[in-house]
Amino acid sequence: MDTPRPFTPRPEPLDEEPYGEEPYGDDEGGAVDAAASMGRHRLMVPEPAPLTEHGPARVIAVANQKGGVGKTTSTINLGAALAEYGRRVLLVDFDPQGALSVGLGVQAHELETTIYNLLMERGAEIDEVIRPTGVEGMDLLPSNIDLSAAEVQLVTEVGREQALGRAIKPVLDQYDVILIDCQPSLGLLTINALACADSILIPLACEFFSLRGVALLMDTIDKVQQRLNPDLEILGILATMFDPRTLHTKEVRQRVIEAFGELVFEAVINRTVRFPETTVAGEPITTWAPTSNGAKSYRLLAREVLAR
Ligand SMILES: Nc1ncnc2c1ncn2[C@@H]1O[C@H](COP(=O)(O)OP(=O)(O)O)[C@@H](O)[C@H]1O
Ligand SMILES: [Mg+2]
Repeated sequence: MDTPRPFTPRPEPLDEEPYGEEPYGDDEGGAVDAAASMGRHRLMVPEPAPLTEHGPARVIAVANQKGGVGKTTSTINLGAALAEYGRRVLLVDFDPQGALSVGLGVQAHELETTIYNLLMERGAEIDEVIRPTGVEGMDLLPSNIDLSAAEVQLVTEVGREQALGRAIKPVLDQYDVILIDCQPSLGLLTINALACADSILIPLACEFFSLRGVALLMDTIDKVQQRLNPDLEILGILATMFDPRTLHTKEVRQRVIEAFGELVFEAVINRTVRFPETTVAGEPITTWAPTSNGAKSYRLLAREVLAR
């Protein structure tokens, strides 16, 4: 934990074709038009400057109460892309399902200590729970099903909404970005994440987008801002599961842009079997398929996040 890591150079040459060999699947129209319609161009997102020092961390909650929208996938791959840009990254698995830990090849059910111990036990040391991942510069605070007990036990505690904030405080100076992968609900665990985050990143699946679902999330963000964390901002909205071949998802993305304007990231994550593959491989797409469209999209997202 204490040894500083060397700056990891960007693995891809800068003069590479910006849209890659397979731009947004079969049809590049949707996503590129969408970016153009916002008066911006993806090439305008600058390369982040290398860092000579690290911390204090920006804490970003990746949240949406709907399951299967790409929260965990985005946490892993945005984190890995940020690490490629030389950022020190901590991923916090804050879903008792432990999918983030599993997706990084960690046998979560075999772990002796997890984030549960940090939340519930006095004197538990975060440095003993954090583990390195296969990605240089990216660490993991793992969880497993024990975390579901914490949600129940926390309810009766004083300062129950600040438990996660207390737990990660000792390592804020060691990282540049901390990404919290939230569970698919607006329960106490997610509230803990929003209470200690600087901002929230919302993945929206173009397939089953519902404005009503987003309204509920916005309502929760509003309440957290009023009662717990006035500084909480919406970092951005990420369109995921985009299928350029269907008219439906194009329309949905257009509606999302109409509703949220500049908040919508230019990066669009296409639906591709490469993502389920990475879960089996236990590594991010940036190393599993470094030149794939998915890897490029998460790198673009990383640049946008660093530029916001
Ligand atoms: N862009 C994508 N294309 C295809 N499958 C995806 C994509 N992103 C995620 N998946 C798959 O969809 C499932 C749900 O994604 P996940 O990131 O776990 O969502 P959440 O964390 O919001 O529940 C996983 O099996 C994952 O591998
Ligand atoms: Mg998840």
